[in-house]
Amino acid sequence: MAFNRDISIMLLRATGRDLRVADAMTATGSRAVRIANEVKGTEVVANDYSADAIPYIQANIEMNSLSNCRASNKDLHILFTEESFDYVDLDPFGSPVPFLQSAIRGCRKGGILAITATDTAPLAGAHAPKCRRRYQSEPVRGYMCHEGGLRILMCTVARELAKLDRGMKPLLSFYADHYLRTYVQVQDKVEDADRMLEQLGYMEYNTETLDRSTSKHYDEAHKYGPFWLGPLHDQEFLSKFRAEGMATEKRCNKYLDLWRNELDTEVFVYDMSELSSHLKRSPPKLVDFIDLLKTNGKASMTHMSPTSFKTDLSVQQVKDLYLELTPDRK
Ligand SMILES: C[S@@+](CC[C@H](N)C(=O)[O-])C[C@H]1O[C@@H](n2cnc3c(N)ncnc32)[C@H](O)[C@@H]1O
Repeated sequence: MAFNRDISIMLLRATGRDLRVADAMTATGSRAVRIANEVKGTEVVANDYSADAIPYIQANIEMNSLSNCRASNKDLHILFTEESFDYVDLDPFGSPVPFLQSAIRGCRKGGILAITATDTAPLAGAHAPKCRRRYQSEPVRGYMCHEGGLRILMCTVARELAKLDRGMKPLLSFYADHYLRTYVQVQDKVEDADRMLEQLGYMEYNTETLDRSTSKHYDEAHKYGPFWLGPLHDQEFLSKFRAEGMATEKRCNKYLDLWRNELDTEVFVYDMSELSSHLKRSPPKLVDFIDLLKTNGKASMTHMSPTSFKTDLSVQQVKDLYLELTPDRK
């Protein structure tokens, strides 16, 4: 989880603020201790409801001689009725859904929610009934399944925030190492909540034709979702992230580069393998194809997979350009 924690450190440093931090499900306290150690101006509560976790958390705090980190042995539902924080981290085994309302209540005005979901299989459509139950959303299968899962998670956070008249601004959202994670800044105006809800919607994805589109409303074609259709990241905020000195510096830089250049279209990722099997032509190099797409519109790599890309061109244009670059050699 070093990469995951490195991202939290970069993000918290990028806020440039003094912060009260709750690592609500801290286990051994590794993330909490790193934050207290590495982010100036933080006051950290390392919480876990398991009594067995507390000696490990205490030992980690003492080993690092930290005066700005304290162990807490509470059910997070109780912690967040008693205290509030500028940054709330939820890192459960599986789905964060049972904890979202409490986390929101424990998050101060303008605070940041950091939410992990490791139940990637339901969210990515491998267990659709479970996704329908947990997230009340219809997952999309195929090459866009991880983006779909991420956007279902974000939609769920948005719907929970809306119940309390709050909105959200996504700061950074990603899929890596089989988990999904989103960092959102909570907004406190009713208008923010309304604007946020306008960014939820449905997807069409036809595996026969590769046609895909979004709609604010459910219909026979747009049967997947609802998803968050707004941006995944805040580019201005991302520009403040610094990877120097991170444990996984090289990987951080690779992802930062991908996130900063990722096209944030409503329409989900395409994949070279998808085009290759649909058009029955071996895939060209992704970089060459993206260069060609860019001469006709916008295009970028994505962090979701090394073979996927995003573009604002139509499906037909994408297919035509793919065929142009991969002439039939028969
Ligand atoms: C996946 S682990 C957390 C890993 C940790 N964040 C890390 O980076 O190493 C989930 C933890 O949540 C704790 N937990 C589960 N339900 C909780 C609750 N309602 N309140 C507080 N902690 C809880 C578990 O005891 C477990 O240690």
